[in-house]
Amino acid sequence: MMNNYSFRDFKSNDYAEVIDLWEKTGLGNKDRGDDLSTIQLSLKLGGKFLVMEELSSRRIIGTSWMTFDGRRIHLHHFGIDPEYQGRRLSIPLLEETLRFARDKKVQIKLEVHKDNLKAIELYTKNHFKYLGDYKIFIIRSVKELKDIGYDQD
Ligand SMILES: CC(C)(COP(=O)(O)OP(=O)(O)OC[C@H]1O[C@@H](n2cnc3c(N)ncnc32)[C@H](O)[C@@H]1OP(=O)(O)O)[C@@H](O)C(=O)NCCC(=O)NCCS
Repeated sequence: MMNNYSFRDFKSNDYAEVIDLWEKTGLGNKDRGDDLSTIQLSLKLGGKFLVMEELSSRRIIGTSWMTFDGRRIHLHHFGIDPEYQGRRLSIPLLEETLRFARDKKVQIKLEVHKDNLKAIELYTKNHFKYLGDYKIFIIRSVKELKDIGYDQD
């Protein structure tokens, strides 16, 4: 049977639809710094943003955003539209994602919340190995960073 979806690269005029999908899947909000210019910069730096599109409706039903830091790929915002979940569509989206890492010949890493059992099962059944025992830290507020006083400055 022919698939009713295809993969393509993100285009800037997908942005509104993608934000919509990220809100529905709990993947994004403005505090995370996921704006269009961040996406575009990540692509310029060698990342990839895959969009999964339903062919009949041209709806965006999945996203996979990979950033590249020169060392590894980090996978972000991997998600399927809730209306399309449970149809095993995340598996081909993950395969397409891993194809990019394979072709680039670099490692791929991701973070997933410990309670996100669906995603954990998906990743562990599809090649990812649990690193374990690490705690993840971030300075979310760039303003806070700016306000850090360095006596030497
Ligand atoms: C995680 C997500 C992409 C999985 O997609 P999905 O459409 O729900 O799941 P699929 O039907 O594609 O199933 C694929 C695999 O996921 C796992 N899975 C799906 N539903 C599951 C459930 N209820 N319990 C446990 N594992 C489950 C299974 O491994 C399944 O493969 P299997 O059928 O061979 O067992 C999707 O639920 C999603 O977008 N969630 C919100 C966003 C998110 O949390 N993304 C991950 C951020 S790191």
